[in-house]
Amino acid sequence: MAAMYAVYHGPEGLRKIAGKVHGLTRILGKAVESLGFTVTNKAFFDTLTIDVSSAGVTAADVHSAAVKSGINFRPVNDKTIGITLDESVGPLDLTDIFNVFNRVKSKSEVEPDALESVASDMSLNASSTTEPIANLARSTPFMKQAVFNRHHSESDLLRYMMHLQEKDYSLVHGMIPLGSCTMKLNSTSSMVPLSWKEFGGVHPFAPVDQAKGYATMIKELEDDLSLVTGYDATSIQPNSGASGEYAGLKVIQAFHESNQQGHRDVCLIPLSAHGTNPASAAMVGYKVVPVKALADGSLDLVDLKEKAVKHKDNLASFMVTYPSTFGVFEDGIEEACQIVHDNGGQVYVDGANANSLIGLSSLGRVGGDVSHTNLHKVSPLFLGMLRTATDGQTFSIPHGGGGPGIGPIGVKSHLAPYLPTHPLIPTGGSSPVSAVSGAPWGSASIASISWAYIKMLGGEGLTQVSKMALLNANYIAERLKPYYNIRFTNKNGRVAHELLIDLAEFEKSAGLKVSDFSKRLQDYSFHPPTAQWPISTYVPPDQFDRQS
Ligand SMILES: Cc1ncc(COP(=O)(O)O)c(C=O)c1O
Repeated sequence: MAAMYAVYHGPEGLRKIAGKVHGLTRILGKAVESLGFTVTNKAFFDTLTIDVSSAGVTAADVHSAAVKSGINFRPVNDKTIGITLDESVGPLDLTDIFNVFNRVKSKSEVEPDALESVASDMSLNASSTTEPIANLARSTPFMKQAVFNRHHSESDLLRYMMHLQEKDYSLVHGMIPLGSCTMKLNSTSSMVPLSWKEFGGVHPFAPVDQAKGYATMIKELEDDLSLVTGYDATSIQPNSGASGEYAGLKVIQAFHESNQQGHRDVCLIPLSAHGTNPASAAMVGYKVVPVKALADGSLDLVDLKEKAVKHKDNLASFMVTYPSTFGVFEDGIEEACQIVHDNGGQVYVDGANANSLIGLSSLGRVGGDVSHTNLHKVSPLFLGMLRTATDGQTFSIPHGGGGPGIGPIGVKSHLAPYLPTHPLIPTGGSSPVSAVSGAPWGSASIASISWAYIKMLGGEGLTQVSKMALLNANYIAERLKPYYNIRFTNKNGRVAHELLIDLAEFEKSAGLKVSDFSKRLQDYSFHPPTAQWPISTYVPPDQFDRQS
């Protein structure tokens, strides 16, 4: 959307929009100053900070008059408010805003065209961008590329977008067996509410009494997620899986601190972990201690125990993905969680692959104290997946192109008090950690997708999704097994919801690389699965016995 906005408007269009916004902001500033209010920021583009005490009123007086007119101003303190205009604001809106100040000050109103005289007094027009940001205004050209200077009519833009769309392979052509961050099935029915103004038109900081519907939806989503993940409380604030990991580890840290165990700073992480796990641990200041993997890709419990005991005085956490990033359910997961608990640590179960569990077991049940799930993943209802390959759903939010996402964390009751809050609109537990997202409920506007997905499928449907994911992945593994090296399976020869196909032998025997397989799949109109999965970085060669 942002790219097409830039293509459509081009540099001239953007300048014009900026000029209009700035011009209207100046007019408003002058107008409110004429009533005795003081604009305290002298250099501005689209935002005014207004001291209302100079006109003998309080910020509360102004806010209550504004709300009566259907307008929210930004609360700053008891004598100051903030107003930001954007291109959607027109002269009538400006008059409405001005009249809020007028009513508070003198109980009078002006007619819709009254501000025109302010504008002409200031010899302002909509494209004026001079004072008071003249010294900041850009004078060099920008967006000189042809694409930003060519498609400025609706038909031109439509044709350009269609031209791009025709190059694409998308869900309208077939399934996309890519990795975790890619959409596979995002039902239209769960996406539709996104375009409703009741969801899309609410500002993240809107007063809570104006967003009761949102509050109900978020509460229901959090409760449903707690139920299906096996936890006691959930926060949807984190914007991604990685952000969930960070939030979850902060919660663990706060828990240890409240038990006078704040010195605990060792985080055990298996070699099979997704790269975000050690990165998140490092971000909260934990020391990462890797745990070995066995040749079949599963956790080395002996190594885990050794390290948990060795670090027992400083053990903060163990991060483990279940089922693992190698596409197997670790048989020893419950034992692993017990080992960590026995040595004073908390267990973070990375639930990015939870699509293989929902309705069948749960992240909480296998022993986690806290987990994130990735709502911005996919529901592999139609076909399981391949990773050279992939992993799973979980709750239907499209994530192609990298955003936006929701990585909610579920916690057991002893961690619930520490769920994150927000400085503007408090959320979370009774002794919360600070916000992990710019907005109180993170990417709230897309929560409607997962809410609808869960409500439409219900318990039975969600369980069926998990079964299909497992069945499909195992079907593919079984069919390919005679010809390909399915790298990791459990002791029954089964994979979880995904599988890794090791193509190394073909490079040796026939000079064929992974990319050759991808291209050949494309010849048959299949989207290739995620390729070049760097197994070697997960299982060092000295710990890996190909024959077994
Ligand atoms: C196992 C696992 N953990 C964590 C993440 C991180 O999630 P996100 O990409 O939303 O930050 C992913 C994403 O692919 C994942 O597969």
